Parts: sequence; structure tokens; C-alpha cells
Amino acid sequence: MASKSTQVQVSLGDRSYPIFIGSDEIRNSDIASYIGGKKVLIVTNETIAPLYLELLKGQLTDKQVDSVILADGEQHKNLDTLNLIFDQLIGGHHDRKTTLIALGGGVVGDMTGFAAACYQRGVPFIQIPTTLLAQVDSSVGGKTAVNHAMGKNMIGAFYQPQAVIIDTDTLSTLPDREFHAGLAEVIKYGLIVDAVFFQWLENNVDLLLQRDKQALAYAVELSCVSKARIVAEDETEQGIRAILNLGHTFGHAIETFQNYRQWIHGEAVAAGMVMAAELSVISGNLPEADLSRTKALLKRCSLPVTPPADMAAEDFIRLMLRDKKVLDGQLRLVLLKHLGEACVTDQFSIDHLNQVLIKACTAS
Ligand code: NAD
Ligand code: GLY
Repeated sequence: MASKSTQVQVSLGDRSYPIFIGSDEIRNSDIASYIGGKKVLIVTNETIAPLYLELLKGQLTDKQVDSVILADGEQHKNLDTLNLIFDQLIGGHHDRKTTLIALGGGVVGDMTGFAAACYQRGVPFIQIPTTLLAQVDSSVGGKTAVNHAMGKNMIGAFYQPQAVIIDTDTLSTLPDREFHAGLAEVIKYGLIVDAVFFQWLENNVDLLLQRDKQALAYAVELSCVSKARIVAEDETEQGIRAILNLGHTFGHAIETFQNYRQWIHGEAVAAGMVMAAELSVISGNLPEADLSRTKALLKRCSLPVTPPADMAAEDFIRLMLRDKKVLDGQLRLVLLKHLGEACVTDQFSIDHLNQVLIKACTAS
């Protein structure tokens, strides 16, 4: 299991960066050493600011620190909110040497990263993820974006941070529902690349649900190792990186259908991963037993394994065709070959997809 503090490297040539993982890491890691200029803009939200903003500011006493506190929620991950960050940057006379720091979950992280990519054509930024989902997924790999009313993460850029600081203590304040949603992305790594980790998760899920610090640090570290390896191989998703989107095409359809207001991302991904696994089984790849293990583990984490009751198969098809993995009008999906190996493919039967969607929508 992980020791108190560990480091994982994302190897991308001159855009390489470290991920620090540990207890009390906001205090322990030398954040200031990743900040070149004198000025910093911390981007956070109304929920996280009272919990961690002062702690972070306390590590930056030799910098000129501004902050912007955004409204909380996926429904605010849009161009209007992004403009509030630009207002603060321009109003505060921030120049090209300014560093942005994202203090929060994936919503804050994705918006801050995109603002950093755009402001004066690019300023440095640091990720300090405070949800499990952001610690194991969204803070690593440089995908940044905002949503559009017609589709999730439709406007964005690949833009890597200078460093990712994961303070696992921040998970102690995370509501259960958010914690469980993060576990969906942890389970994803087991499903797509690491069957041994999947089995470890099955064996240690109770410890994780109790938020045992050692078990959590280990799960975060292994997730980051897998993500860093995939991103290093395929930074801009020309191929293998797309497997990180297991269940996401289905999941994004759910989120868009609900206008980003009901299920949270990890919940939608959980139901989506089951639908992808069902399609993998019906396509003759994944053994039925692996599908059962997947459902069982997700259920143990209080995650949904069927879509929202008010969604129909046609809703999925309509919304899935807007996915970023659609190329030349052809839907591509991440499917499982077996537990621990995924592929991106357009080689599945539309009849099978319809069968899976109809079965899933009638089961919920
Ligand atoms: P989130 O950012 O909305 O955070 C969830 C909730 O937890 C929010 O209410 C937030 O204020 C609160 N919160 C955050 N940290 C807390 C803490 N320590 N204590 C108490 N409350 C806390 O949601 P999320 O699940 O972190 O991220 C979801 C977003 O991430 C989605 O927009 C998704 O598209 C994006 N995402 C991006 C990538 C990527 O590669 N860039 C990958 C996966 C997901
Ligand atoms: N979360 C998917 C990716 O980073 O590619």
C-alpha cells in the first residue's frame, strides 16, 4: 500500500509534470515552487472555499493571490461562468506570468484549465483536486472544457497543468454521494486496464467505503498510474486514450438528457459502464460472469446499474450521436474484451446496441 506521500510522473516531454499524493499535501508539497511569476488566481467554488481556500492561501504568502469563487454545480460549467474567471483575470491586471490554481472537483478543474489555456493564449495552471473523481481522473491528463446546452464538454482544449497536488485529507469532507461517484472512475481503471486492481477493489471495497486512508491512497495512486501511462501514450486521444471513456458515451447522454441537474457524472458513468459491458457480452467478447462482477462492485458502492427511469432507447441514440467519439457520422464505443482490457470500436451491431438500450431502459 502507498506510504504517506507518493509521486507519479506524467511523462510528456517538455510538458511532463508530477502528481503528488498524500495526507496534508496542500501543506506538505512545495506548491510555490511550481509558480513562476508573482501573481496567482485561485479558482474555487462556494462550497470548497470555506473549507480549503485559507489553507491554500497560507502556502502562498510570498505571492500576490487573488481568488474567484464560482457557483457550485455542473450546470454552471459553461461559457458564462468561464467569463467570470476572465473578468477577474483582466480586472486584476493578471499578465502572462500569472498562474491559475484550480481548487475543487472536476467542474472547477475543467473550467480553470480551459481558462488557463485561453487567457492571453495560455498561462500556467496547477490542479488541486478535492473530489475523489477529480483526484483519480479529471485533474490528470490535460482535458479541459465547458459544457454546451446541446452537449457535454463540447468546448475545450488539451492543456496540461504544471503539477497536480492531491491532498487525500480533503476527501474527509466529501459527501457520500460524491465519494461513491468517484469510486465509479476508480473501478473503471480495473475494468479497462488492470484486472488485478479490479480484484483488489472487490476485496477492499469495505475499507474504501469506510474511507480508510491507506486503502484510499493506494486506490488513488494506482488510478493515477494507469491514467498517467495512457495519457503519456496518447495525449490528444488519437487512439488508446479513448478507453478512459468506458461508459461515458452512455453516461454523457444521461447527463445531457437531464440538463446536468440530476445524476452526477460518476453515477451516469456507472450506469453507462454497465451498458457498455452488456453490449460487450452480447457482442460475444466479455464473459457474462465479468458483467455480474462489474454490477456487483458498482452496487456495493451504491452506484446505479441501470439508466434513469424516464429515459428511452431513442433518447440514448439521439444524444450518443453527438459524442466526440463519433467520426464521419459513425458511432464508436469503448467495449470490454475481457475484464482488464478495453478497445474502442465501431464494430458492433446496431441491433445489439438497440437490444441493450431497450433492456436497460425497461429494467430501470
Ligand atoms: P464537482 O466538481 O461538481 O464536485 C462535486 C461536488 O463536491 C461539488 O458540489 C463540489 O463543490 C463538492 N466538493 C468538492 N470537493 C469537496 C470536498 N473536499 N469536500 C466537500 N465538498 C466538495 O464534480 P466532480 O465529480 O469532481 O467532477 C465532475 C466533472 O469532472 C464533470 O464536469 C466531468 O465532465 C469532469 N470530468 C473531467 C475529466 C477530465 O479528464 N477533464 C474526467 C472526468 C470527469
Ligand atoms: N477522462 C477521460 C480522459 O481523460 O481522457
